[in-house]
This record gives sequence, structure tokens and C-alpha cells, in this order.
Amino acid sequence: MSKKMMFALRAGAVVAASMVTVLAAQAGEVEVLHWWTSGGEAKAAKSLQATLQAKGHSWKDFAVAGGGGDSAMTVLKSRVVSGNAPAAAQIKGPSLQEWAQEGVLADMSDVAATNQWDKLLPTVVGNIMKYKGKYVAVPVNVHRVNWLWANPEAFKKAGAKVPTNWDEFFAAAEKLKAAGIIPVAHGGQNWQDFTTFEAVALGVGGTEFYKKALVQLDQATLKSETMTKVLTTFKRVKSYTDKNAPGRDWNLATAMVIRGEAGMQLMGDWAKGEFISAGKKPGVDFVCTAAPGTAKAFTFNIDSFALFKLKNEANVKAQKDLAAAVMSPEFQEVFNLNKGSIPVRLGQNMDKFDDCAKQSSKDFVETAKTNTLVPSIAHGMAVSSAAEGAIKDAVSNFWNSDRMTVAQAMDKIAAAARTK
Ligand code: GAL
Repeated sequence: MSKKMMFALRAGAVVAASMVTVLAAQAGEVEVLHWWTSGGEAKAAKSLQATLQAKGHSWKDFAVAGGGGDSAMTVLKSRVVSGNAPAAAQIKGPSLQEWAQEGVLADMSDVAATNQWDKLLPTVVGNIMKYKGKYVAVPVNVHRVNWLWANPEAFKKAGAKVPTNWDEFFAAAEKLKAAGIIPVAHGGQNWQDFTTFEAVALGVGGTEFYKKALVQLDQATLKSETMTKVLTTFKRVKSYTDKNAPGRDWNLATAMVIRGEAGMQLMGDWAKGEFISAGKKPGVDFVCTAAPGTAKAFTFNIDSFALFKLKNEANVKAQKDLAAAVMSPEFQEVFNLNKGSIPVRLGQNMDKFDDCAKQSSKDFVETAKTNTLVPSIAHGMAVSSAAEGAIKDAVSNFWNSDRMTVAQAMDKIAAAARTK
């Protein structure tokens, strides 16, 4: 080996060694609480892990299974109470304010300013992430909740048409049933019951009703004629689900549609992640369409990570790197391609996304202009967690009871809406 080469190699080794030292000095650990454990979701979570590891940090997975996140929230509370908060936790909507009021969330203003979050996020979204004007959370995506997923083969076999309103929905359900196909794949858990309920409320009642009844929790609207119609239609959907629905996870319900055992499912677009992860093609193997009667509205569910106050400096650095990475265009693309959602970052290139995502993206912008963009209650975007929990229970009680009348259900829901 020539002297020159030896020198170059040695110099290279010195540079490499100092880079390792730099990385080691800054490398921290990030513990992330989430409930993304189904096929498509786990892939999306892995992309976050890979992004962070590429920055030299280590990832401590804190996954708590259970769609909708109820179990995850229970575990999180006990961890925070015992003074052992993770670096980041999947917390959404008004709950972010509740956690921030406890004084446990970290101020991410510096990361937000450096990376221009105010410019890159729709104002409504930025406001959800801020407490007293300071960012305490970073958004990951925008899920649309008011979708209907259908298996075109099953529909063909039944001679049915994919519905666009509730009359067509029940006509299709009858035909599917007659063909020996379970019309509606459902998982009987309260957040899934409510996902169906809010789709019916939006489709039957319209966006003004939805906002008054389920966002403003207006007592008169909750006890109106329209509410009677909504509850009657909602309960009718149940007669087209199978008897094994109680307790079933949402992704198992999606799998029934994937296999053609069931015809359709009312679910947010994390369901698309399951179709994609099973190798299915939108428009060919499955159909995505707005839930009946809701094509001109958009029920949004924005996943976000709340960042908790940490003591260890290296971990604080890793946490800030995570927050910055989540908003990067590269991450927004790869994560959302797997998750079924759309990027939350404005002006993102959608070339690699499928038609369902493109439709969602277009409708997100359109509905924001026409004031028909509404928050999902089922997914923690609209009301306080206490009111949400009480209303969800009341709606599920009605769904599950053979005796409760619509009038009784209406009273129960209205009373639950008063929960502070
Ligand atoms: C939602 C969450 C989605 C998805 C879904 C099913 O609340 O926002 O990201 O995980 O639950 O678990």
C-alpha cells in the first residue's frame, strides 16, 4: 500500500471515528406509545421507527393493542401519573389540551419555527397541536372517517350496486343477504359502533345537524325529529351485521370484506391500509366510496404525537428529531402510503398515492372551503374525552339492546352529552 493511500485511509478512519463519537454523543432513545398493531398500521409504525433509527437514535416500541386507542390511553395515564412518561404518545384532538393543562407536555416551538410548521399546516390543524400558542404535539396524517369499503366481486355476485345513499345501502344489503353474503362487516366495540353512528348522523342529518348535535352537543338537536331518523337508520344497519360481530377487531371485519365473506364495511381509511397490505388494488379488488349520503362532507381524524417533558438531554434531542422527521415530506409520503391516510403537510406531492387518497386529498380541501369538514367524535376530534366516553357508551347500549326504544336512547344520549 502506498504511503499516500495509507494516509488517506488513516484520515478516513479518524473522520469516521469522530462521526461515531458525534452520533453517540447525540444519540438518544425515543419511547413511542401507539396502538398501530394491525397489518397496515404496523408497517406504518415501522416506517417511523426506521426514520428515527436512521438519525442514530434508538426506538423503544410502546405498542398497546386495541383499535381506537382506549386501552392505550388507560396505560398512558398510569405511566404519566407514576412520573414515567414516554417521549411521545398518540394523543389527538381536544385531549391534547387536557394533557397540556396537566403541565406534562414539552414545548416544541423551536422545532416548529425551524421547520416552518405554521406555514406547512392548515391553520385548523396547527391550532389543535398548540396549547397557549405553543406546539405541544406534531400531526402525522389526515384520516377520513366517512368511508364505505366494498368488495366488487361480492356485489357482482349479489347483483347489487355500491350505494350512494341510505336507501340504496339497504337495497344493496338485502341483495347481499339473499346471495348468502354478510352485508355489513362490523366489529362490536363502542368506537366502531360510533364510527357507524356518526356516518349515519352525517348522511341522514347532514353537516349542520352533525355539528349542532355532535360537536356543539345542543340539547334540542339531540332530541329532534332528525335524531329519531338517525337512530332508527343506525339500528337498522345492525340487522345486516352477523352475530359474531360483538368484540371483533376492526381489521378482522376488514378481512371479511377482503375475502368476500362480507360485502361492505363502514370504517375510516386505516381500513385501506389492510387492503393494501393484503396486496389488493383499489378500484379493482376493492372499492372506496364516501359513506352513504356523505360525499360532500369529510369527517376528519388527525393522528398526532404529543411530546412529553423529558429530563435526559440526549433523549430530548431524539424527541425533537422525531418531531422534525414526522413533518418531513419523505416521512409523510412513506407513512401515509402504508397507513391509508393522506399527508397533513400542505402542498405534498400525491403522485405515488392511489385514487382513494387523491379523492380524500381533494375533498379535504373542498370541504374546508364549504364548511362541511367536520371532526370525528368517534376518534377523539370533537368533544372532551369525558363527554365522548359517555356518549359512546349510550350509543353502544342502544345498538346492543333489544329493548331500548329510540326515544329512550335519545334521552340517554342527550344526558350523556352533558357530561363534563
Ligand atoms: C383511530 C386512529 C387510527 C387508527 C384507528 C384504528 O383512532 O386515529 O390511526 O389506528 O383508530 O385503530
